Amino acid sequence: MDYLKIKGKSALNGTIKISGAKNASLPLIAMTILAKNSVVIKNLPSVADIKTLLKLLSNLGAECQFLDDGVIVDTSSMHETKATYDIVKTMRASILVLGPILARFGHCEVSLPGGCAIGQRPIDLHLKALEQMGANIQIKAGYIEATAPNGLNGCEIIFDKITVTGTANIVMAAALAKGETTIINAAREPEVVQLCEVLHASGVAIEGIGTAVLKIIGTDRSLLEIPEFSIIPDRIEAGTYLCAGAISRSQLTITNTEPNHLGAVIAKLEEMGFELDIEEKSITIHPTETIKPVKIVTQEYPAFPTDMQAQFMALATQAEGVSIIEERLFENRFMHVSELQRMGADISLNGHTATINGKNTLSGTDVMATDLRASSALVLAALIAEGETNVHRIYHLDRGYDSLEKKLQNVGVTVERLKEGL
Ligand code: EPZ
Repeated sequence: MDYLKIKGKSALNGTIKISGAKNASLPLIAMTILAKNSVVIKNLPSVADIKTLLKLLSNLGAECQFLDDGVIVDTSSMHETKATYDIVKTMRASILVLGPILARFGHCEVSLPGGCAIGQRPIDLHLKALEQMGANIQIKAGYIEATAPNGLNGCEIIFDKITVTGTANIVMAAALAKGETTIINAAREPEVVQLCEVLHASGVAIEGIGTAVLKIIGTDRSLLEIPEFSIIPDRIEAGTYLCAGAISRSQLTITNTEPNHLGAVIAKLEEMGFELDIEEKSITIHPTETIKPVKIVTQEYPAFPTDMQAQFMALATQAEGVSIIEERLFENRFMHVSELQRMGADISLNGHTATINGKNTLSGTDVMATDLRASSALVLAALIAEGETNVHRIYHLDRGYDSLEKKLQNVGVTVERLKEGL
């Protein structure tokens, strides 16, 4: 296993290019199951989760040809419809193949994803919606066995909770269903919007894109001709690097980004005293003398994203005063707190609310990553800690950040990727 050795008190200077969005890439790769043609996907990030999903598709008989900045996926020869535990256990987003496979083949077996570090992560809403569309769903020996021998039928679906991958799964299932599907309380994340836009460009009639009510008229199992597309920039990677500039009091520019996807994050950085220059595809953050404390409540898009909660907690340790962060989406998304406390952060927890009593002097030490975004928070803390910090188990980081240490080295951070035990 690898770990990152980061020298503290780093000042960052320069420009970081943002990669394609992991959470847009995953549903869009699953969507290729609906295609009759080879699908060309550009600006794909080089992260472990993408490789995992492409491996899953290959195991099911798809052909993947990698390009310099993307991949060509041909699912015309797909013959398998069982997503096995060995792959699904490593990435719960594999559940995204359920809707497309069921819609196209009329049957599908997907291993139950199980929980993960940040919470139990149920998929009951995905399954309930597919049953409403006419699927028969059985849970047997840890697998979801779904059948719809005569295809899926469009219907009205009301999601009890807003679910990002749940919305994506049902949008893809509805694209090949018979008749119209209305999804009420749909997720509005930019990643869901891009999925809808690409399906629309593939001839699927979709209304309400970007709103909480989506209307999809299915093709009744006619496969789609999907045009080439480029993955939208990763708004969470962008937010993470803005926090890197903020916490290290550096002037830093991020390019190839979409400021419109970062409204809530930009607003909170400005509230904390940072000045940001916003251009069409780039953002420059400027250092501030005094970082102000902040109150954050994580909610669905376009409100403040849960995927930026850990990063802002690291930043809040440098604010002059008391910050409050409430995590409303996941039941266990404070795994980074104990590691930040070991570095000297003064954070107390009460249920889903964290109180950060800044400003803290952080000391470098050995810390352990527990999940994707928690690990990026530890990297941020390491940038300003006294001495060196070793961030262990960075396979979590590799799931969602493309070339993180290289991007940080390019802006002046002393960081090395080393092998445990050597
Ligand atoms: C997506 O996960 C993202 N992953 C997560 O990003 C992100 O944190 C999350 O949305 C919220 O924004 C991908 O897009 C691959 P949800 P997802 O279904 O779809 C409950 C990262 O760091 N729920 O929107 O799995 C659920 O328990 C990852 O990149 C049900 O109860 O999240 C949670 O409380 C981490 N039943 C809430 O809804 C269901 O059937 C939101 O979950 C589905 C969800």
